[in-house]
Amino acid sequence: MMLTPKPTSKFIYFTIFLLISLTFMINSTASEDSDDIEDLIALDEEQDEQSSPKPSSEAEVLSKAQRIVLELNNDNTQKAIDGNEYVFVLGYAPWDVRSAELMPRFAEAASSLNELKSPVLMGKIDAERHPKVASNLGIKGFPTLLLFVNGTSQPYTGGFSSEEIVIWVSKKTGTPIIRINSVDEANDFLKKHSMFAVGLFDKFEGPDYGEFVKAATADNEIQFVETCTSQIANILFQDVKSISPFLGIVKSEPERYTSYEDAFEKDKILQFLNDNKFPLVTFLTEVNSVKVYASDKLQVYVFAEADEFQKLLEPFQKAARKFKSKIMFVFVDIKDDNLAKPFLTLFGLEDSEDTLVTAFDYKTGAKYLLESDPTPKNIEEFGSGLLKGILPPFYKSQAIPDNKGADILTVVGNTFDDLVLSSSKNILLEVHTPWCLNCETTRKQVEKLAKHFKGLENLVFAKIDASVNEHPKLEVDDYPTLLFYPVSNKSNPIKLPTKSSSKDLAILINKYLKEPVHDAQHDTKDEL
Ligand SMILES: *[C@@H]1O[C@H](CO)[C@@H](O)[C@H](O)[C@H]1NC(C)=O
Ligand SMILES: *[C@@H]1O[C@H](CO)[C@@H](O)[C@H](O)[C@H]1NC(C)=O
Repeated sequence: MMLTPKPTSKFIYFTIFLLISLTFMINSTASEDSDDIEDLIALDEEQDEQSSPKPSSEAEVLSKAQRIVLELNNDNTQKAIDGNEYVFVLGYAPWDVRSAELMPRFAEAASSLNELKSPVLMGKIDAERHPKVASNLGIKGFPTLLLFVNGTSQPYTGGFSSEEIVIWVSKKTGTPIIRINSVDEANDFLKKHSMFAVGLFDKFEGPDYGEFVKAATADNEIQFVETCTSQIANILFQDVKSISPFLGIVKSEPERYTSYEDAFEKDKILQFLNDNKFPLVTFLTEVNSVKVYASDKLQVYVFAEADEFQKLLEPFQKAARKFKSKIMFVFVDIKDDNLAKPFLTLFGLEDSEDTLVTAFDYKTGAKYLLESDPTPKNIEEFGSGLLKGILPPFYKSQAIPDNKGADILTVVGNTFDDLVLSSSKNILLEVHTPWCLNCETTRKQVEKLAKHFKGLENLVFAKIDASVNEHPKLEVDDYPTLLFYPVSNKSNPIKLPTKSSSKDLAILINKYLKEPVHDAQHDTKDEL
């Protein structure tokens, strides 16, 4: 019987996300500039009206864009949703840093969509000032993006740059593909886009074309273009084979062009894009992080200073080429606390300044650390071990402590097997963390109990700090936790109620020392 859920991929993903959000919050309070979004917008517009127009200035473009976004409120929201086929809404809070970052990108996207004559109405709502309207729209946190199609909302699943917002909204509002009709249009398109999927068809009809359109609509982030002349296709994609239909993906990368060789079926096309859309080595940023975490590939992360990484780039690209479509290689600037810390914490290496190479298998939740130098050979072996599933998983562990004369043994990740699982005694294990609320009370109780049972040969008291120690068999996510490991059945620890009095705990322990396990398990169930 499992006491707690396994740390699944979702769990790790969530933990990382949470840690990043927390770092965000901490940083934002530290550097609070009272930069209220309202003020920023108001300021932008004022400047716009007073200063002489400089058409190319960024502020100018932004402030113009701001006005294309409708400010939603109690009076106009329902009307806007009911009266438009497509409404794309940003729910924000003025104090929220991530809202503040998204806002200008949203405005820029609104401006581009306006130029593209998109049918979408872009609106934003201050969910703090209008909580009821926001909640009716289904906005629960900040920032939230929702697309309403004929009044029914769907969550946003695209990227977070303005370009990616434009691509996603266009896809979901009836324009999944840009058609290129001339050489000039092709050259114009290339000025604006460095990554896209291109399709060449004799005619824009038929089953192959149908699957291409379906894939373009279902995909969330890649701009699709189509053409029916090979001259234009060759401007967009080097060496298009004159066979039609043709499909290829273009990136701003050493591996710039990849052509599709399989049958035209929506799912196969999507798989191909999924396998090829990331660069050989992805540089993790705030903007692409969600996309990177959402990838279901095996992932190798390199943490290094930017200079140092330049030296490693080539060997990593070489490895990435070898494991292409199976392993994703990601570079994180170790100096970027927001991005690097949450990962390094998972390895207990948050203070490290040295280059680190780690890996994750999101399907099993396992994490790995390259213990040797990141030489090309070691990197390749690490990747190949990851792919074969033969790398030893990494578990955090403190240094092995000296337990001489201790009433309560201190267990760490590396001694968990010896001291708990393989020990020939019954073990009462206190699982604690430095920050947990009731750990102190439980610690005192355990000390009392250890004194009480002192001299009893078959019972050992132990404790483990779960914030810095891990073991695959220690599946606890609630602290403090008291686990009784019966000597006869070490793989099925019994969870003891931490809110009981010391006396009740002593009675329970006595009972478990005497009684068969399955009986005990049954008893505690009610108390969990
Ligand atoms: C929205 O509703 C209109 C009117 O009923 C309809 O013509 C249109 O196809 C609908 N749009 C979508 C995307 O379903
Ligand atoms: C160990 O505990 C589990 C769960 O309570 C039980 O199903 C199993 O029979 C026990 N095994 C032994 C050897 O007692």
